[in-house]
Amino acid sequence: MKKKNLIVFGTRPEAIKMAPLVREFLRNDTFETKVCVTAQHREMLDQVLDFFEIVPDYDLNLMRPNQNLYSLTATIIENMKPVLDEVKPDFVYVHGDTTTSMAVGIAAFYSGAKICHVEAGLRTFDRQYPFPEEFNRQLTGKIADYHFAPTNLSNNNLLAENISEENILVTGNTVIDALLYGIEKVNSENFKDEEIEKLKTVLDFQNEIILVTGHRRENHGEGLIKICSALKSIAEKNPSVQIIYPVHLNPNVLKPVHELLSGISNIILTEPLAYPAFIWLMEKSFLIITDSGGIQEEAPSLGKPVLVTRETTERPEAVEEGTVLLVGTDTEKIIVETQKFLDDSAYYKKMTQLHNPYGDGKATARIVKFIKNLNHGA
Ligand code: UD1
Ligand code: UDP
Repeated sequence: MKKKNLIVFGTRPEAIKMAPLVREFLRNDTFETKVCVTAQHREMLDQVLDFFEIVPDYDLNLMRPNQNLYSLTATIIENMKPVLDEVKPDFVYVHGDTTTSMAVGIAAFYSGAKICHVEAGLRTFDRQYPFPEEFNRQLTGKIADYHFAPTNLSNNNLLAENISEENILVTGNTVIDALLYGIEKVNSENFKDEEIEKLKTVLDFQNEIILVTGHRRENHGEGLIKICSALKSIAEKNPSVQIIYPVHLNPNVLKPVHELLSGISNIILTEPLAYPAFIWLMEKSFLIITDSGGIQEEAPSLGKPVLVTRETTERPEAVEEGTVLLVGTDTEKIIVETQKFLDDSAYYKKMTQLHNPYGDGKATARIVKFIKNLNHGA
């Protein structure tokens, strides 16, 4: 009998990081694999599904405008029941630290399936930061049967929580698998993309491009105001620099960013870019300023320095390796660190030549092999 997989995700980053696994499992006829999206995100999820040519078997379509954690969690658990009842999976795969990961983990546990946690073991050890993601990841780690840790450090975090060694596999991060696939596809001769063509008309690639994103709940309000104030000042001091900010659709981000940064000639605000245009633009950028987890992991593979607008991180490997710099939301610090890159080419160059601690692009193959070799009584 074939082993039955159910792969579930809901937001943009989960979709990007699970896409290589979906594609690999669907190609492998040892398994019967179904895909379910909670659609915790809608437009931002659909952009990813399109690019990776994934058609979900189940789409719960749960996103609501300005949704809250209580109802989202409850509705995911409730809506997963009929899917789990129908598919009766042996293995349910969840990713990372979102509400989808945690709530699907709980539902899958009720169903009796084995739970596989991809991108397991990252920790800040502060349940309030990032909120609620640190708690979501810890809880998912408690529920999971198998843990796919991207690095040795995340493996050690899991071992310290008494998870047995044979249930953990160090894989690298699937974000690199996705990026390698994505870059190859985007740079292939017959790939055409409207968003990329539009970017070519609005950006001047002779000058430095600073790419910005931000969405974390902890930065909503004051943090975001301080970041925007830094961006405004950088733009004013450096008229040749172009700042491009694809703004997250969360209304707690969208509204203040447009209020604070509209109308500045060298700051371009766009809608979230679809993944191909985004990675294309990362490659063309001089520097990235972000609070995103995934972008911190991707950027070093493209040789791009990152200023991380967070106080603490569950990704200390990148800080230790020197590929990212934590600057928090301190306006002055963001300005000073950005200016250093713009003014000191030797310093900039050093930061672009470092090794990426997040993997070699073979994480997916390792996960599939591990599950294939499991002596599972299904
Ligand atoms: C979620 C995750 C966060 C992840 C981020 C990636 C949780 C608790 N948070 O945060 O860990 O880093 O996704 O982007 O799971 N919206 C749209 N269209 C979309 C997506 C979002 O309109 O395609 C708007 C909606 O109004 C939605 C709101 O953004 O209600 C918030 O979405 P939600 O998933 O709750 O939070 P994020 O801030 O996106
Ligand atoms: N990304 C994208 N379009 C954008 C911004 C980001 O496709 O406009 C991609 C990016 O390449 C990365 C992922 O989205 O793979 C990161 O998602 P996000 O920052 O929303 O979430 P996080 O990684 O912080 O959980």
